[in-house]
Amino acid sequence: MELGRGLNRMAELRIVEAAQSGWQGELTIPGDKSISHRSVMFAGLGDTPVHIKNFLHAEDCLSTVGVMRALGTAIEFLNENELIVTGKGLHGLSEPMTVLDAGNSGTTLRLMMGLLAPQPFLSVFSGDASLTRRPMGRVLLPLSQMGARIYGRSGNNNLPLTIVPTGEKLHGIHYESPVASAQVKSAILLAGLYGDGPTTVTEPYVSRDHTEQMLAGFGVRLERSGTSVTVFPVEDGGYRAPEEITVPGDISSAAYFLVAGSIIAGSRLLLKNVGINPTRTGILDVLTEMGAHISVQNERTSGGERVADLAVEAAELRGTSFGAEIMPRLIDEIPILAVAALFAEGDTVITGAGELRVKETDRLHAVATEFQKLAPGSIEEREDGLLIHGKAKPQRAQVKSYGDHRMAMSLAVLGAAAEGVLIEDPDSVNISYPTFFSEMERMS
Ligand code: S3P
Repeated sequence: MELGRGLNRMAELRIVEAAQSGWQGELTIPGDKSISHRSVMFAGLGDTPVHIKNFLHAEDCLSTVGVMRALGTAIEFLNENELIVTGKGLHGLSEPMTVLDAGNSGTTLRLMMGLLAPQPFLSVFSGDASLTRRPMGRVLLPLSQMGARIYGRSGNNNLPLTIVPTGEKLHGIHYESPVASAQVKSAILLAGLYGDGPTTVTEPYVSRDHTEQMLAGFGVRLERSGTSVTVFPVEDGGYRAPEEITVPGDISSAAYFLVAGSIIAGSRLLLKNVGINPTRTGILDVLTEMGAHISVQNERTSGGERVADLAVEAAELRGTSFGAEIMPRLIDEIPILAVAALFAEGDTVITGAGELRVKETDRLHAVATEFQKLAPGSIEEREDGLLIHGKAKPQRAQVKSYGDHRMAMSLAVLGAAAEGVLIEDPDSVNISYPTFFSEMERMS
């Protein structure tokens, strides 16, 4: 059955035609994926109903909904983007009857590992082929140092994973993470809620801080110092769910339209309700540095996060260089920034991007291989990055998404800005942006 499904998906092809004129119009960006996951998980640890608005109704976040339901959380959808989550308290999760399926979602799996490691019951995780290849040792190792018992395939690094109850409280630790990863940090902080003392995570650079921001809104005590964050164990009655969470629009989804609006001549787009948390806005910094015309309008706070409307119009871009320091703030935007670089004047050098090799697919290899089919000679794959020669004149070609949503959307923008493109396995956009192609057609 798995094989059949794979073949069907591979047989599908999306044809994106070259844009005949600039993309114009207004577009409301769907809810943030990271915050949607967390809203369901954190609400599920409370003991009062939480009304979640502007939830991202996409495959990844639905994996989190499925897992939380399997753990006994009541989740009722009022419509696709609004739901009521009612938990049974911080100690109210129940042993799942079945294997927990994280699907394609690294966020679901890694954060839930942190949440389930301290629980007094057994849980077993599976996921799709992509997630099964991705490294989980980076989470399993610190959780084991806290006293958790987790077992997995290939030397405790891969799915399937089993979390075994220990009968004891986890220990608070100070973990120096070798990677700047919000998923690793969040897993440790969530386990730390149940620890016997404070837990600190130090990262090489600060990764997205939604877990910290949101947990603080639930009454959890956290302290930040430089690139370290400390969580204090929750005392009785100390975890208080808010009545409502409004999820801001996802800047990682807005990114495709920021780049399309910049590189397709004559474009002018207004992207509404975009989250501009500073740990996520590296894309704005790099595009501005490249000469993009983006203005941040109507800045406001919504649900504890900064949001704004982003206006973009076509501009002559120039190549740039960026590396490890900014990487956590634009980690998901490398494929679409590589598209921008292809149309810019001069070279773009991306370094410090080794983490991309362990995303939904090896994105450095995938970007280099597929861009090469469209614009031969325009891109070089480096060990930890990419070198992109600008002012390429991409030709029409058939390319692969590798089942990776961010590859599919980046290739679509590339094709629209050039001579068109035929994308294999385009449905992967359903992971984070199910309405991507229809919105793209509406703008063009
Ligand atoms: C995410 C963190 C990032 C990002 C992913 C979502 C999160 O992963 O790539 O799409 O919600 O915490 P890493 O933290 O592992 O880099």
